[in-house]
Amino acid sequence: MKLEELKLDHFRNYESLSIENLSNVNILLGDNAQGKTNFLEAIYLLSLGKSFRTTHDSELIQSGSNEALVEGTFTRSTKSKIKLGLKIKKHGKIAYLNQLEQARMSDFIGQINTVIFSPEDLNIVKGTPAYRRHYLDLELSSISPKYLNELRIYQRTLKQKNQYLKMMREGRSSDEVYLDVLNNDLAKSGGYIAWARNKNIGELEESASDIHFRLTQEKEQLKIIYLSEVRSESLDSPEDAADALLTIFKGHRERELRQGVTVAGIQHDDLSFMINGTNVASFGSQGQKRSVSISLKLSEIEIIKKIRHEAPILLLDDIFSELDQSRQTFLIKSFEKEVQIFITTTSINDIDTSIIEPPLIIAVNDGEISTRGING
Ligand SMILES: Nc1ncnc2c1ncn2[C@@H]1O[C@H](COP(=O)(O)OP(=O)(O)O)[C@@H](O)[C@H]1O
Ligand SMILES: [Mg+2]
Repeated sequence: MKLEELKLDHFRNYESLSIENLSNVNILLGDNAQGKTNFLEAIYLLSLGKSFRTTHDSELIQSGSNEALVEGTFTRSTKSKIKLGLKIKKHGKIAYLNQLEQARMSDFIGQINTVIFSPEDLNIVKGTPAYRRHYLDLELSSISPKYLNELRIYQRTLKQKNQYLKMMREGRSSDEVYLDVLNNDLAKSGGYIAWARNKNIGELEESASDIHFRLTQEKEQLKIIYLSEVRSESLDSPEDAADALLTIFKGHRERELRQGVTVAGIQHDDLSFMINGTNVASFGSQGQKRSVSISLKLSEIEIIKKIRHEAPILLLDDIFSELDQSRQTFLIKSFEKEVQIFITTTSINDIDTSIIEPPLIIAVNDGEISTRGING
């Protein structure tokens, strides 16, 4: 997949931007707070329909404006062109596919794929369980509309169940049959999610452990463990997982009625990473944590390639200044030639440009850009 053209209108600090003839390797160069990450964010928005930085879409609209527009023209390996657009209003957004307004976001999401590398990736290892769940959900949603749909159903039903449990505790309702209905719905969507997460983690581990082994000069064996209230023997099919979840819900009925809130479910899932048998989050060095996050991101690319038969667009946000030479070289060398990359940096000296294709340099200054080749 390749982004050929990008247009921004009143997006973040870009009043108006239009750039054509994007290259395979594009370096966004500029001081801090000039709009480099905003540029990547716009591309990311076209892949997933939401930002990696904020859940409040209104922040994407340039201050003082009413709406923002992001538009990108992409080519795919089939050589077919696709034009994706997103109009962001204060209360909602409209997605366009080849200029046609889409009734459902799910028809827009995942048309093109991106993988973003940023210093925050360390949080996949170091951060909260909620961060890791969010990471898993984003990754799975980008490759499976069904997953995204089941996740929405689960979240909506969970909210209903919590409201209902609260009503029951306050004596405003007492219909346990309705609670059964909600539990059934939750188990059905939750079972699918647990099964999909487990499957995805298995695939992630398969390729991440191989990449990690090579990244660490064959010293470190990486394992990824899915931590869920659904036990591993019930994860062979969505139906088995749903049955297991239903049993779990039933076992917690008394406590849930007493506390007026759902106490079990896939909203507590987590991941843990082990290197040579030791938990990385607790005992790993900073360098090991960084290596694990790089291995995970690189395997995301592999998974997308397997499913889409095409490489995603890579967005590398300020990561080179933090990487030592050997990790940097490993990273760049592992990207194949045909992959399109956008790299942000404050200093071109942070990047060893001798090991990449001649890049297009996009100088970013206060929401305005100018382009040039590597030699000026
Ligand atoms: N909605 C917005 N309207 C106007 N400016 C914005 C908006 N959101 C962010 N900015 C500005 O964008 C700049 C940050 O851009 P960013 O891409 O994160 O910088 P960097 O080049 O360091 O990656 C800041 O100057 C910030 O004030
Ligand atoms: Mg930035």
